[in-house]
Amino acid sequence: MIRNFCIIAHIDHGKSTLADRMLQATGVVQPRDMKAQYLDRMDIERERGITIKSQAVRMPWEDENGVTYALNMIDTPGHVDFTYEVSRSLAACEGAILLVDAAQGIEAQTLANLYLAMENDLTIIPVLNKIDLPAAQPEKYAAELAHLIGGDPDDVLRVSGKTGEGVEALLDQIVRQLPPPVGDAEAPARAMIFDSVYDTYRGVVTYIRVVDGMLQPRERIKMMSTGATHELLEIGVSAPEPVPTKGLGVGEVGYLITGVKDVRQSKVGDTVTNLNRPADQQLSGYADPKPMVFSGLYPIDGSDYPILRDALDKLQLNDAALVYEPETSVALGFGFRVGFLGLLHLEIVRERLEREFNLDLISTAPNVVYDVVTEDKEVVTVTNPSEFPEGKILEVREPMVSATVIAPSEFVGAIMELCQGKRGVLGGMDYLSEERVEMRYRLPLAEIVFDFFDQLKSRTRGYASLDWKADGEQVADLVKVDILLQGDQVDAFSAITHKDKAYSYGVMMTRKLRELIPRQQFEVPIQAAIGSRIIARENIRAIRKDVLAKCYGGDISRKRKLLEKQKEGKKRMKMFGRVEVPQEAFIAALSSD
Ligand code: GTP
Repeated sequence: MIRNFCIIAHIDHGKSTLADRMLQATGVVQPRDMKAQYLDRMDIERERGITIKSQAVRMPWEDENGVTYALNMIDTPGHVDFTYEVSRSLAACEGAILLVDAAQGIEAQTLANLYLAMENDLTIIPVLNKIDLPAAQPEKYAAELAHLIGGDPDDVLRVSGKTGEGVEALLDQIVRQLPPPVGDAEAPARAMIFDSVYDTYRGVVTYIRVVDGMLQPRERIKMMSTGATHELLEIGVSAPEPVPTKGLGVGEVGYLITGVKDVRQSKVGDTVTNLNRPADQQLSGYADPKPMVFSGLYPIDGSDYPILRDALDKLQLNDAALVYEPETSVALGFGFRVGFLGLLHLEIVRERLEREFNLDLISTAPNVVYDVVTEDKEVVTVTNPSEFPEGKILEVREPMVSATVIAPSEFVGAIMELCQGKRGVLGGMDYLSEERVEMRYRLPLAEIVFDFFDQLKSRTRGYASLDWKADGEQVADLVKVDILLQGDQVDAFSAITHKDKAYSYGVMMTRKLRELIPRQQFEVPIQAAIGSRIIARENIRAIRKDVLAKCYGGDISRKRKLLEKQKEGKKRMKMFGRVEVPQEAFIAALSSD
């Protein structure tokens, strides 16, 4: 008797805490071993250098008739950048607990996750959490939830992950309300990969949900999207420590190990089958993760380039979505053009590179991927402004997203103003209750990638929540703005922007560089240009002056770091025509805002 479920929630609504209580209530973790957020063990993983994180846990639960069930709780990644992986985790379950903070109500990711769960045909159990809080308003939010998914507000369960109240009743409801898994035990095996992680000692550990048939240790298996074959060295369940078993059958959730060393050989969403008796159809919709945002990453100290290359190789072992290729910049030297799922992904990767590999990095302004149609109808995919074709262009297409914003209704005006300023088109608006509204916009990805979320938060005093997903392309009036130093293009500063924003970008960048570049023996013009048309200009007056004096102010720590770097090493100068520019000036221009 199996029940497979996941917990979906907006960030901080208490998913991990509730999972902890379930581990305790079902007895799989003893009270003395219990530590907060048992399943989030990144720190230990780092200290010991191994991956022991459970992406799925098996827990026994006895119903009122004394029948014991195996409950598989499957963890889902929390952020929009990883929606594809969330959707694969959901596809491994029959049901989802929709967890909502009883003091906050429904937020944007509550909805986004709910819609994903509904697309996967899951049975939804609505639950209010944190009912112990004095500010909890369970009646109000139960009504909101019932309004959203149908049903009676009285049927919305109420729990506290903190005190444990209601958790056992919830486990009973999981057994009662969720359908058992169905599959064909006699058919060739088909198992879906919903996660795979790299473990230094064991290689890649792949988390699977068996849909049909049976997988057994020592047999040969085949990955259906790539055709790659492997020997199944170990198969088992997480309870929550890994426990090897004699095989996994229909509806079962667990892990497998084949000895491969790279997660790209065991991709989330792929289907595993027996090699001897392969299934003929993959499980639904496997898709390669597609990078949405690209940025150039350069070591501040050029001699760190090989370390950066090795570090990216290592990170990629555990991150199938990370793509990169070498790139050189006149201003910044040797580096990589790296593709990310979104800005959070970029930040995580950058932080890991800096912390775990002790690198000092500079990243160029992130950009999205454009399709540019040239005069002879050729479509050029542009991931770096320097690839933007010269000459006549028929059209430029940019990626779009559909975004959902949920906020108190008093902020509707402010949100509309913000979204319109970002070239958004309102798609619809619904009131969740009298005070709260859901607004749907279609926006260019490039407009929400940078500071959209921060601006949304500040205009709504922190109350708005945002979620978005990719939604095709649109033709837009986009141009490439180049920055020229005495007539020579400075590649790292080229940007693709909407025509209406080209001028302000040009003015901002030329001013910044005027501040940062030291005076020379002669006057140096800094220009911003679209093709051959100059749209902004500043002059650096003659007479030499120390650049570093100008570096102070603003983000002191970063600039101090630059100074120290400079002291350590030889001063790296770049020549643009006759103009000599320390690399630090470029770095400062890219890092301050
Ligand atoms: P992420 O893992 O960051 O997505 O958050 P989460 O949804 O897992 O939330 P988490 O379990 O980390 O809880 C968020 C905060 O809420 C923590 O400070 C918890 O201590 C607190 N919290 C969780 N459940 C309860 C509850 O039932 N009552 C109270 N008072 N606080 C709770």
